[in-house]
Amino acid sequence: MNYAHTEFAGFAGNRIQLGVTGSVSAFRAVDIMRRLQRADVQVGVTLTAAAQEFIRPLQFRALTSGPVYEGLFDANQADFAHLEPAQNADVFLVAPSTANILAKHAQGIGDDLLSSQLFSFRGPVVHAPAMNPRIWSSSAVQANIELLTSRGTILVPPETGLMACGEVGEGRLADVEEIFLMTLRSLVPNDLQGKRMLINLGPTQEFWDPVRILTNSSSGVMGASIALAAWLHGAEVTVVHGPTPHLWLPRFLSTVPVTSALQMHQACIDLASSADIICLTAAVSDYRPQELLPIKAKKQTLGATLMLPLEQNPDILADIGARRGSSQYLIGFAAETSDPEVHAQHKLHAKNLDLVIANSVISPGSGFGSSTNQVSLFSACGRTENWPLLSKPEVAFRIMEWICDSPSYTS
Ligand code: C5P
Repeated sequence: MNYAHTEFAGFAGNRIQLGVTGSVSAFRAVDIMRRLQRADVQVGVTLTAAAQEFIRPLQFRALTSGPVYEGLFDANQADFAHLEPAQNADVFLVAPSTANILAKHAQGIGDDLLSSQLFSFRGPVVHAPAMNPRIWSSSAVQANIELLTSRGTILVPPETGLMACGEVGEGRLADVEEIFLMTLRSLVPNDLQGKRMLINLGPTQEFWDPVRILTNSSSGVMGASIALAAWLHGAEVTVVHGPTPHLWLPRFLSTVPVTSALQMHQACIDLASSADIICLTAAVSDYRPQELLPIKAKKQTLGATLMLPLEQNPDILADIGARRGSSQYLIGFAAETSDPEVHAQHKLHAKNLDLVIANSVISPGSGFGSSTNQVSLFSACGRTENWPLLSKPEVAFRIMEWICDSPSYTS
């Protein structure tokens, strides 16, 4: 699986307090801590007594410079350990979170260090529950979840699958990347809250017989980075994507899978009118075979050279540009092999865009399949910038800042 689009970093100066409770998935808390640290976040840890039956505090102490708490009356810790995260942490994440800690947090019981720390904490709290499906679906747990979410607690819902106990159902701890992103979202300004973004990404595939296609090597990483950056800034994001089987996408993005350019065109046109920001990053095939052969063509019949009549696909960006509302913000990409600036400026006007982002697809470290990109931006109001080679998530983050600062968007 490709996770290059989730590599957001630069959160030094932020601290997350990670509460670990007594679930068989407690060992995954180490991966969650390491994942947060990769984004430069400092992590403190609080283990309940039950968690320590599954994983030792030393495991965390060896890997973090943040405080690691073991219990309310632990002689080695500060006198006011139950208040310390409230003073120094930005977000409290409980992962895995058992039915017991959810009940204590919802009902106001503070009988151990973790529940007492949660009491005094006034910042965002994220719970990533993990438990047996029958316990998860019980009316008591669901009532506590409802109460907590109604008070603003953030939930990373468990996944459905095979449980450690052998049962199948909803209750598995969510993907580490989802827990990471949901926690990171609490550290990012919510300046796109209430905004809806439509984005397309990846390649399209044009079949000319049941097994053969015309396509390109777009990975979808740039588009997925933008989708996640917009979501981290509070937007509601819908992704129309071509075939990108290796690209991991979290459950909190709405996804519309398509195959051909015609399908992508239809899906984008249908969704465009309800979007505030439309960002079209897909490497759409400009042509499709005129005819789809009903059975696999034999090369013996086709001969040594093959002429395949092609017809032009609709230009999704140009069509949306032609019918867009003035309050919508429209972004296009210009992936070029020569003169990116000239082509970008032309596209800006020809397709009625607010912003065009140009990149050379042949420069080292830039374009298709790479985890980095070197882009230049040209806005309809005359602002131009050339950015250095950056990771695609970093490019995406800067694009969100550009949009939030843009007079045509904020006015
Ligand atoms: O004109 P060109 O294809 O180079 O423009 C690239 C931009 O147009 C990208 O944003 C791409 O997603 C979009 N595009 C499109 N429909 C097409 C071809 C390109 O929306 N058929």
